[in-house]
Amino acid sequence: MDYLVKIGKAENELTDALVLPVYSDETSIIKNADMTGKFKQTLLLHEVPGFKAKRVLLIGCGKKDELTEAKYQELINQMVTTIQQTCAKQILCLLPEVSCKKRSLPWKIRHTVIHANAALYQFNDFKSKKESNEHALKSFTFLVPKTELDKVKQAIKEGIAIGHAMNNAKDLENTPGNICTPKYIAKTASIWAKKHKNVKCTVLGEKDMAKLGMGALLAVGLGSENESQLIVLEYNGGKKSQKPIALVGKGITFDTGGICLKPSTAINGMKYDMCGAASVFAALQAAVELKLPLNIVVVIVSAENMPDGKAIRPDDIVTTMSGLTVEIGNTDAEGRLVLCDALTYCERFKPEYVIDVATLTGAVIVALGTQASGLLSNHQALADDLVKAGNETFDRTWQLPLWPEYQDGLDSQFADMNNVGGEAGTIIGASFLARFTEKFQWAHLDIAGVAHVRQKKAYGTGRPVPLLTQFLIDKAK
Ligand code: BES
Ligand code: MN
Ligand code: ZN
Repeated sequence: MDYLVKIGKAENELTDALVLPVYSDETSIIKNADMTGKFKQTLLLHEVPGFKAKRVLLIGCGKKDELTEAKYQELINQMVTTIQQTCAKQILCLLPEVSCKKRSLPWKIRHTVIHANAALYQFNDFKSKKESNEHALKSFTFLVPKTELDKVKQAIKEGIAIGHAMNNAKDLENTPGNICTPKYIAKTASIWAKKHKNVKCTVLGEKDMAKLGMGALLAVGLGSENESQLIVLEYNGGKKSQKPIALVGKGITFDTGGICLKPSTAINGMKYDMCGAASVFAALQAAVELKLPLNIVVVIVSAENMPDGKAIRPDDIVTTMSGLTVEIGNTDAEGRLVLCDALTYCERFKPEYVIDVATLTGAVIVALGTQASGLLSNHQALADDLVKAGNETFDRTWQLPLWPEYQDGLDSQFADMNNVGGEAGTIIGASFLARFTEKFQWAHLDIAGVAHVRQKKAYGTGRPVPLLTQFLIDKAK
């Protein structure tokens, strides 16, 4: 898809389809038409007098002052799906001219690029007959005043990079666990890294993990036929002296729960337990596409959580890379076990910040639903920056407390800590990780609610790629 900008007047532009927003409380131009401007209503007109466009798509935006970011996103989707049913190759898109809270024109254009891309996303790698829902659409053009040209061009560039990255994340997320194994993720990462000369990929297998003493990470993969992998991607886009930002992703390619087997009602969709891994990988891809002047280390920790004669059992005690011992209260709390060793491993990079991203707890869905990821951090300025990046991209996150009092929940009778305990599931999960991150400024994003849709029609959302990319863009400034 091409995204273009132009200075000009809508009436005079030759295009296949001109998209015009219409408000319900300002419908004077279409008096007596079947269009009231009601939110998401559409009317497709052909050869409208006074317009050079072949088609004009009117799109209802509701009342002028009531358009939120969420509604704006729905309109983008509505526009794309309506145009897809025509044979229009080009859209001249005036949707960003609506007022949406206090968002700027470049913001609305960037958001349009990101979410038009999302609306066009398809995943049919595993259909024997590739569905021919081919659409003709090839380009979007935005009309902008001259003064905004540079900002809009930059916004489009960022929108395209974020869009590409989200598509990559979704591809990996939607690929099922029998194909998308830890080695498959490692291969995908190393193939990508080879194409970029300032990216280095290192893959550690189970023997390497054993040498490093990663007893918690290894424990999770014991029941699986698929070897666990620790995948490290190092991007050097900044000065040599600049400390890297480390992004750590949970990459459980399938989470059965292990010996504490999940009930069948909760097991479907557990191929999405690698969305953290997919999103940190994708955020790096966006950063590389945008050539951000940063040093970034991505650590993907990947394993499969299976029940088996060799699997860890409840009550087992494992020794982590840090030396701390952990009693396994529940084999289904495997995310924190793989992450704690990955976090300790990060120390060698002397990172500026460490952000881990994980579908860690069902509890975060209870707390925040699908609107926001859960954020917990040992460094308030870092948490603030992540909240800001989330608000900016409308890929929001919400902070929960990480008070020391919660640590008591993790007490173990025989080991240094248990891997479960206490009532506030999301906070307990983060409290566990906090014990392995005392040496750096760290934040944890629990994305179980936002990373995938859990209905009959389930799919990976590519979140929180926008938030993470925005955070990196902000840090590059
Ligand atoms: N991967 C799950 C969390 C999850 C649940 C993600 C639902 C997406 C949707 C995680 O490994 C898990 O099983 N967590 C347990 C922790 C519990 C045993 C303390 C949970 O949330 O039930
Ligand atoms: Mn689990
Ligand atoms: Zn899990």
